[in-house]
Amino acid sequence: MANDPRKNLEEIRFFRDLGFREVLLPSAATAAQPAPAPRPIAPPPAARPAAPRPPGASAPRDAVPTDPASRPVVPVGFPSLPSLAEFAAGCPRCKLSASRTHLVFGQGNPKADLMFVGEAPGADEDAQGLAFVGRAGQLLTKIIEAIGLTREDVFIANVLKCRPPENRNPEPDEVAACLPYLREQIRLIAPRVIVTLGTFATQAILETELSIGRLRGRFHPLGPVRVMPTYHPAFLLRSPERKKDVWEDMKKVREALRE
Ligand code: URA
Repeated sequence: MANDPRKNLEEIRFFRDLGFREVLLPSAATAAQPAPAPRPIAPPPAARPAAPRPPGASAPRDAVPTDPASRPVVPVGFPSLPSLAEFAAGCPRCKLSASRTHLVFGQGNPKADLMFVGEAPGADEDAQGLAFVGRAGQLLTKIIEAIGLTREDVFIANVLKCRPPENRNPEPDEVAACLPYLREQIRLIAPRVIVTLGTFATQAILETELSIGRLRGRFHPLGPVRVMPTYHPAFLLRSPERKKDVWEDMKKVREALRE
């Protein structure tokens, strides 16, 4: 609402944080907003029985299978995110495993209400083994803080856990090989809301070919989880005029988390 001073203030902070330096923040504006009340975490959906390979068992790295049927299985029913991360660390399921420096599993609150899912690690993420730590990641931090949260409150992951060479687009076989990890992460974290960042994450999670422009701005169901597609921070760096759309999307996310 245009005349609500608290909402105006949040909007000013959002644009200031996103680099609109001409927006001056009155000193009173720096007072922290009250954090939303904590919510009991819903129990994760029942796990299917685990496949034969036990969680934690190291996966062979000698050959990268090109035939999807010969890929080592990613079991379901891991007891915890660390056990899934340990299993994933040796993943040989697609050709990107041969060129990675680090597998980027994702990081944050293992019981987060809010999860962000991007496309794939870039050079900075591959070097550090952490998701969204480059320029796009810095912008993502500001987007998270604009709704009164920190990176530690949320979980940040990608569809692909390994960097595509030269940051090219993910290929369908890579997405197919990597999605089981993301699905298992979502089951274990059991977030209430997932924000998908950009076309690839949105299409992979919602299993659609519709464009981000068609999908963003409203929630889509994924079982019990509400998915809000929005623009990728890397796109915002190139097209800053779309930041206002992301702000609109994030306000809806903030409201959903307060329900
Ligand atoms: N872009 C992504 O989609 N993910 C990252 O981790 C970094 C940049």
